[in-house]
Amino acid sequence: DALMEEKAAKDSKPIKVTLPDGKVVEAESWKTTPYQVASGISQGLADNTVIAKVNNSVWDLDRPLEDDCSLQLLKFDDEEAQAVYWHSSAHILGEAMEKVYGGCLCYGPPIESGFYYDMFLENNDGVSSNDFPYLENLCKKIIKEKQPFERLEIKKETLLEMFKYNKFKCRILKEKVTTPTTTVYRCGPLIDLCRGPHVRHTGKIKSLKIHKNSSTYWEGKADMETLQRIYGISFPDPKMLKEWEKFQEETFALKPMNCPGHCLMFDHRPRSWRELPLRMADFGVLHRNELSGALTGLTRVRRFQQDDAHIFCSMEQIEEEIKGCLDFLRTVYDVFGFTFKLNLSTRPEKFLGDPQMWDQAEKQLENSLNEFGEKWVLNPGDGAFYGPKIDIQIKDAIGRYHQCATIQLDFQLPIRFNLCFIGRDGDDQKRPVIIHRAILGSVERMIAILTESCGGKWPLWLSPRQVMVVPVGPTCDEYAEKVSQEFHSNGFMSDVDADSGCTLNKKIRNAQLAQYNFILVVGEKEKTSNTVNVRTRDNKVHGEHSVEGCIERLRQLKASRSKNAEEEF
Ligand SMILES: *[C@@H]1O[C@H](CO)[C@@H](O)[C@H](O)[C@H]1NC(C)=O
Ligand SMILES: *[C@@H]1O[C@H](CO)[C@@H](O)[C@H](O)[C@H]1NC(C)=O
Ligand SMILES: *[C@@H]1O[C@H](CO)[C@@H](O)[C@H](O)[C@H]1NC(C)=O
Repeated sequence: DALMEEKAAKDSKPIKVTLPDGKVVEAESWKTTPYQVASGISQGLADNTVIAKVNNSVWDLDRPLEDDCSLQLLKFDDEEAQAVYWHSSAHILGEAMEKVYGGCLCYGPPIESGFYYDMFLENNDGVSSNDFPYLENLCKKIIKEKQPFERLEIKKETLLEMFKYNKFKCRILKEKVTTPTTTVYRCGPLIDLCRGPHVRHTGKIKSLKIHKNSSTYWEGKADMETLQRIYGISFPDPKMLKEWEKFQEETFALKPMNCPGHCLMFDHRPRSWRELPLRMADFGVLHRNELSGALTGLTRVRRFQQDDAHIFCSMEQIEEEIKGCLDFLRTVYDVFGFTFKLNLSTRPEKFLGDPQMWDQAEKQLENSLNEFGEKWVLNPGDGAFYGPKIDIQIKDAIGRYHQCATIQLDFQLPIRFNLCFIGRDGDDQKRPVIIHRAILGSVERMIAILTESCGGKWPLWLSPRQVMVVPVGPTCDEYAEKVSQEFHSNGFMSDVDADSGCTLNKKIRNAQLAQYNFILVVGEKEKTSNTVNVRTRDNKVHGEHSVEGCIERLRQLKASRSKNAEEEF
């Protein structure tokens, strides 16, 4: 407040504020706020405005204007205003959660038609939906108090001291904030590291409904060998070949991406136009040294695998190849039931290469997209410097968008690696174009999104826990093992629960909680008749079936990628 008063006293001067209709309002810098300008027009307008936009950037309504500017007053029908509204609502939820649970608040972003707040709790068992009415009442109280959202500039040291109980915030501060001070927002007792802006005060939020949609990340047995990929660290300039060879003998690195390797494979021998398009796919292990603060669950990891491919083609083949990529993308996403959004990102201001080549390629991408038939949006100037691209985002179960797939043209890499092919006309210096293509993207990330999307209840065909065989007592253990082995040799993930310390009901319950799709109970009767007694994780009882018949039925359900094999059995 003191800083602001000082600015207002010392630096204030008359400024001109231009409204969208061209009208100019006289104001004073460091004093006049967008809210005051709105009130000057009408109180109704001021009350209905969610957020201001100053020179095209969102701006708190109570933050003084600093210079001549354009001013827009956004109402709730505006998408950006909605995001501010949802994000401000998340603050209220965060404040209530911190009060009730005392854990570490992490991110509280807006999503389509809502918001969420991630919180780290040492002991997750503490959270139950029984708390929700209490949390909701607390939110109501916060709303009633009309707590203002205050924008504060605070020294990094002070914040580190304040946040010493929140490891997450400290880490973000240490890794992301490089200036001596940073902007935070205070709302009631909650101080949050965020860029803002927000609505004026908590009273602007009408009401808030909490629901839980937690998910279980499956912790599997690590029974696969882990391969370490060792890779040469760089690629030589021919002039430096001697140094390179020496270097290569001594220095190794973990492979960060596939493209350079694929270029070398292309360049391994002369290529003819007849070989194009040449498509190389590689699911190899990749490594990126992400900042520790950026690592989250399975969504950002340091060692991952991509369903990566590089298509080497001629300029004329782009349209056909992109069409193929898009069809492939739809086929894969349909299987998972994901919807997606598409952007065509075109030539940026800073680009490399021949503008005519860009135009030709962009035209082909446009044709492929039109033929594909899904809605797409032009995002001019957002292509990479090395080529235009199609951005794809999929929507997860709670409405968050994720970028997984990539379809990206590259004119530069073939030049860097001096890749050529022999054209139909005998010209042996023809340049191929590279299409970088991934559909799932990082498989680890995709697993996280899928897990959220199915709430831990994997469909049979994807499930890591398809069958649990439960013997009624120790005399049936051997038979249970035999049955499990048969399922296993028929390609199912199958386990046996032979824990004699557990009652039958408890074993069934445990298998259900672990989300085994099918639970096969075997007792003396089943042992004699070579059968199993089938029930599902949702406790639907399908009764006695022969082992052979059961395997056959599960095989069909798996092959058809049934979304609801447990019911269909
Ligand atoms: C807004 O844009 C105008 C024109 O570019 C510039 O003169 C002015 O300083 C900007 N105002 C603020 C507050 O950034
Ligand atoms: C498309 O571009 C817009 C504007 O830059 C962006 O907000 C949106 O997230 C993009 N969508 C995809 C699918 O990348
Ligand atoms: C939670 O997510 C599942 C999908 O995983 C969805 O079917 C369900 O409707 C969601 N529940 C709520 C309360 O939003």
